[in-house]
Amino acid sequence: MPTDLIDEACGMSEQLVAWRRHLHAHPELSGAEEQTAAFVAERLGEMGLTPRCNIGGMNGVVADLVVADQPFVALRADMDALPIQEENDVDYASETLGVMHACGHDAHMAMLLGAARILQHHRSELHRSVRLIFQPHEENEPGGAPAMIRAGVLEGVESIFGLHIWAALPTGRVGTRVGAFMASPTLLEISIHGKGGHAAMPEECIDPIVIAAQVIVGLQMIVSRTLGASDAGVVTITRINAGTTHNVIPQSVELAGTIRTFDTTIRDRVSERVREIAQGTAKAHGARADVKISHSYPTLINDPVIVADAHRAAERAGFDREDIVDLPLQGGGEDFAYYCQEVPGAFMFLGAGNPAIDCGFPHHHPRFNIDEAALPRGAAVLAAYCLQAGG
Ligand code: NI
Repeated sequence: MPTDLIDEACGMSEQLVAWRRHLHAHPELSGAEEQTAAFVAERLGEMGLTPRCNIGGMNGVVADLVVADQPFVALRADMDALPIQEENDVDYASETLGVMHACGHDAHMAMLLGAARILQHHRSELHRSVRLIFQPHEENEPGGAPAMIRAGVLEGVESIFGLHIWAALPTGRVGTRVGAFMASPTLLEISIHGKGGHAAMPEECIDPIVIAAQVIVGLQMIVSRTLGASDAGVVTITRINAGTTHNVIPQSVELAGTIRTFDTTIRDRVSERVREIAQGTAKAHGARADVKISHSYPTLINDPVIVADAHRAAERAGFDREDIVDLPLQGGGEDFAYYCQEVPGAFMFLGAGNPAIDCGFPHHHPRFNIDEAALPRGAAVLAAYCLQAGG
């Protein structure tokens, strides 16, 4: 087992930064990652690997490093960008109007390419076969992971590991959590149908705006009054659409929002309460509420054994023990959760926050950026995970 992985990764810092910046300047939305996939496949080919493309009927790219008769450990990076107009004033800013790598998936691909290169150098030291999974379509329903799994990327895989760059964690730290780690998002759409009319004659109308206000406040009682002290959940309304002018009570109000939970029983209970409160409140005032609830990615559950392996990999990659932290439950969703339902897996956050160099904006923000000093650290952790497997 090499002890100088981090030195090796730091030696390719310039290359990692160049890859990341190229991908950053050329972001592609979920389902449209053609150029991204071509770039990744070309780099893998240059390393002497034989990438398979268009996996799952999408832009997935998979490459294997086979060790005879040995099962696979898998590493996964996601590939897609977001419909955000970048506001960073950097020379590698997005060249595509309205599209931006604002979640760090550009860094994920660069780090996985870096890990591929390290693993190629150390191929004779591998005890397990390695599968590199570049997965498209993470940011958008239904996620890219289910199609990749249906295409067989987990066949022969005994464990899977993934890193997400994390701006809220300072560079030099990594963190994760045993068991439930990231939330299962549930999408809400509520339409409240009243009776429109003249704003000066509310007695002739059923005002859906006031009812919507009561519904929104009522929904905020679910977490505080339905869940216990040890249960976790979030209910957020994110959109209200209604009305056209100051003297007309509208016919209806449209609400949208999200529920975040970490357990199927709680998810179902909260969803049911949303339906009851919206419909019951509307009914009490003579209106009607149509409630559409759709469950998205499952809760991401980290396997305790793979978390321990991830900690070991981080140490091997040069992280001090006190810089490998336990993180609290995360309200964000991740389609990496689907892989963890199939094989033991762990997802880990890699610190890349550094406000001193303007890298402190949250994910999905137009000024999101990362401290690129995290790139070699991430590549080293990914490589270490594979090199120690089966050893
Ligand atoms: Ni992301």
